[in-house]
Amino acid sequence: MDIWRIRGGKSLRGETDVQGAKNAVLPILAASVLTGCRTGLDNCPDLRDVDGSADILRCLGCRVTRSGRRMYIDSTGELSCSIPHELMAGMRSSVIFLGAVLARCGEAVMAMPGGCELGPRPIDLHLAALREMGAEISESGGNIVCRCPKLRGASINLALPSVGATENIMIAACRADGAMVITNAAREPEICDLAEYLRKMGANIRGDGSSTVVIDGFSPRGEVSHSVMPDRIAAATWLCACASAGGEIKVCGALPEHLVPVTRALGEMGCRLGFCGDGIAISAPSRLRAPRPIATKPYPGFPTDAQALLMAATLKAEGTSVFTENMFESRFRHVPELRRMGAEISTEGRVAIVRGVPKLHGAPVTATDLRGSAALLIAALGAEGETVLHDSGHLRRGYEEPAEVLSALGAEIH
Ligand code: EPZ
Repeated sequence: MDIWRIRGGKSLRGETDVQGAKNAVLPILAASVLTGCRTGLDNCPDLRDVDGSADILRCLGCRVTRSGRRMYIDSTGELSCSIPHELMAGMRSSVIFLGAVLARCGEAVMAMPGGCELGPRPIDLHLAALREMGAEISESGGNIVCRCPKLRGASINLALPSVGATENIMIAACRADGAMVITNAAREPEICDLAEYLRKMGANIRGDGSSTVVIDGFSPRGEVSHSVMPDRIAAATWLCACASAGGEIKVCGALPEHLVPVTRALGEMGCRLGFCGDGIAISAPSRLRAPRPIATKPYPGFPTDAQALLMAATLKAEGTSVFTENMFESRFRHVPELRRMGAEISTEGRVAIVRGVPKLHGAPVTATDLRGSAALLIAALGAEGETVLHDSGHLRRGYEEPAEVLSALGAEIH
């Protein structure tokens, strides 16, 4: 259990470098087993979920070493095709290994991924697509067993633009016979970063970042090197922290085009945003105003991962803020914890209404999920007194050294 102690009331100043993107590096690590090759990955963030993926790679038979932000994966040996339950259970997104292991080995055995704090996390779209590609998939005793000596290209229309399903299909399609066309594909920037890595591996992919992705052909290369894109949600976290605490900071390495709905909302709240080649600067007003209603959508809409982050910044904003969470069933679990700090929030199904209060007070609170925990940190920075955040490891799944980042900007946190 990590205990974070935050004393609010200090405004933030200075610059911070944004980490490599968790949601880009995880599918890239999975894809590294597609063919026997040596991958050098730069700007690889130091996160528990990355450690979890490295453990899975080692268990499959890869050699994985890391020095600082550079990770090195050698998947040239004979690989196993099954991932033990305890490694799958540790990380919800480990289902992303399914397409890669099946394409490499012709077989994949792994535990059904657990649900997580955001509600049920079905993988029906992943499995339906792999079946379309010729995979025989059976589920028994909580395990998924997939077999397909040779995947074949198909034309898949996703019922909804699932990020993970798009990634799993893109990866598997690299080793399929014949062209693969995915329509209604997810368009997140992390999909483009994965596609860039796959192209470097020798895949012929086009349309990534649009709703129609075509994968047609693969000439495997033995050596691949790639640098992971910046983490847009970590960048959003630090921008919202500054809005909540006051002051002015610059998030170096963040790409403005990845965060348009978030910076637009922060602008509506009275923050001044500066976009320069190497990052995003923000200066917070003395009193924030409520933004126009926020509704989470697939990219390029407002990102669901930033919903809790921005909500935490609106708690003392003048007026009423409205959040509609369209992507996950229960992604308001941070709300009761924020109420303990004096926030006035009511929820009805997928809608949360925040009435701005003049001040918040520190309180003992419990982390609920990765971005919900970050929201508690953001609220604590703008609260009077001390907040004690009890976190069973959620924050470290997605953020490198969050206390160090915020302390360096002037926050009182340890
Ligand atoms: C990815 O999760 C991200 N995780 C999530 O970030 C992010 O919130 C989500 O995309 C949406 O942007 C990683 O990239 C590792 P989805 P993923 O498949 O792929 C439903 C974070 O905090 N669905 O796009 O699991 C699903 O239940 C994490 O960094 C099906 O119904 O998201 C959800 O309601 C949290 N059937 C919706 O689609 C399926 O087969 C979006 O899920 C797959 C998904």
